[in-house]
Amino acid sequence: MNVNRDAAQRHTGSELRRDRDRRALEHAWFLANETGWGRFGYSGIGGRCVAMPDPSPEVPHIDFASDEVPDLHDVLADLRERHAVAPVLYHGSVAYLITRFQDVHAAFSDDETFPSASAYLRHSAPVMGKTIQCMGGQEHRRNRALVSKAFRPKLMTEFVEAFLTPVAHQLVDTFAGEGQAELVAQYTTRYAFTVITRLLDFPPTDFEQLKRWGDGLIDFPWDPEGAQQASREFTAYAKTIVDDRRVNPGEDLLSALAVVEVESERLSDEEIFSFLRLLFPAGADTTYRGLGSMLYAVLTHRETFERVQRDASEIPAVVQEALRWESPTAILPRFAPKDVKWAGYDIPAGSEVLFGVTSANRDAQVFAQPQQFDPWRNEREFLSFGQGLHFCLGSHLARREMEVSLRVFAERLPDLQLTDPQQVGISGTVLRGPKALPVRFAPR
Ligand code: HEM
Repeated sequence: MNVNRDAAQRHTGSELRRDRDRRALEHAWFLANETGWGRFGYSGIGGRCVAMPDPSPEVPHIDFASDEVPDLHDVLADLRERHAVAPVLYHGSVAYLITRFQDVHAAFSDDETFPSASAYLRHSAPVMGKTIQCMGGQEHRRNRALVSKAFRPKLMTEFVEAFLTPVAHQLVDTFAGEGQAELVAQYTTRYAFTVITRLLDFPPTDFEQLKRWGDGLIDFPWDPEGAQQASREFTAYAKTIVDDRRVNPGEDLLSALAVVEVESERLSDEEIFSFLRLLFPAGADTTYRGLGSMLYAVLTHRETFERVQRDASEIPAVVQEALRWESPTAILPRFAPKDVKWAGYDIPAGSEVLFGVTSANRDAQVFAQPQQFDPWRNEREFLSFGQGLHFCLGSHLARREMEVSLRVFAERLPDLQLTDPQQVGISGTVLRGPKALPVRFAPR
């Protein structure tokens, strides 16, 4: 999961343009100085490389890192039709967006050509530390084996299942008597963050504080100092808890991370901290968006909501389709360390590459009527959880959170409806979901 937040959610107008210029500058500085590939002779904001000019971007009025694109799926459908790999603007510079399902799938599966580490070392490591996403090869295998073992089946089937439904009910209790609610503020964000804190068995903590740290950590590309401060504060908070779990382990994930062993190897403190720093953005920011998009989908497709009220066994199919139809991770960043030809297109060494996950999920070569929300379609594949080496470690948990939430809403608020469907929509180009979901229902 990408840690870049869609800046448009926080910034507007001239602020956004200023930020974009600053990021273009930082980005070019990075390419010129840090990668050592030295492809660019940088000449100021908007400057072009000297040795090898960037191609003109498609849809040059859109920056895929920061712009709200109301008709994103239409824009992507057009790009996908015309190009398997499209040069587009990203952080003010040209990046190569891979648009079609088979090509994105193959690119995920080739971590040598498009190493996850190269992208995340730049986007997240300065503030999150060297997370599992910043690793490749043997280092990733070792770390992934340790954390996967910590996510053992018993953790999911016993420890986690015991609180998923009660937490959903407790949150619905807080507004069920009101007859109205705003589900992003009052349910989806709270549910996703609460599940992660319960998974780790963090002591009851101020939700707002944890959310501020979580948001701060992923804001690094836009607010490096704020992100560093969030990282310091969060690490200090987590340290005392990790120390305690090393000697007094419980049933939770943090205890498992503290004591897990594979071939006599254990996770160091810093490996645990960087994993925790990743868990909030990777586990909560994605899931609350997925929850929001799923609720939006069923509330705008009434027959689906009624069908799951009659038959809860249909719920997994609805969750599956919601994840395909609106992937919370719409675009994932990669980097091409070497010249490569992909799907017939030349991508020069040192280029930023974008995996168009949400574009791939709506590729008409794979999905019939791809723009339609149809839980009963035959095609079951999608790329929302990635693919290959870095495939999402929390996919099972994320699905369960979405299934449980839909069941609880179907049981308790069957007359739930959007207050003003015209005013609500799904937005974001990197991470995607509804910003708000105002709803009404008969008070209970
Ligand atoms: C709907 C919710 C979720 C979505 C759409 C999602 C999506 C993704 C994607 C696309 C990746 C691969 C990123 C890449 O290749 O660059 C990923 C990785 C990861 N996800 Fe998730 N995720 C979700 C929920 C969760 C949850 C709930 C957790 C943990 C509790 C989690 C933990 C992780 C971790 C640790 C990785 C890194 C794995 C590695 O690098 O080996 N995710 N996720």
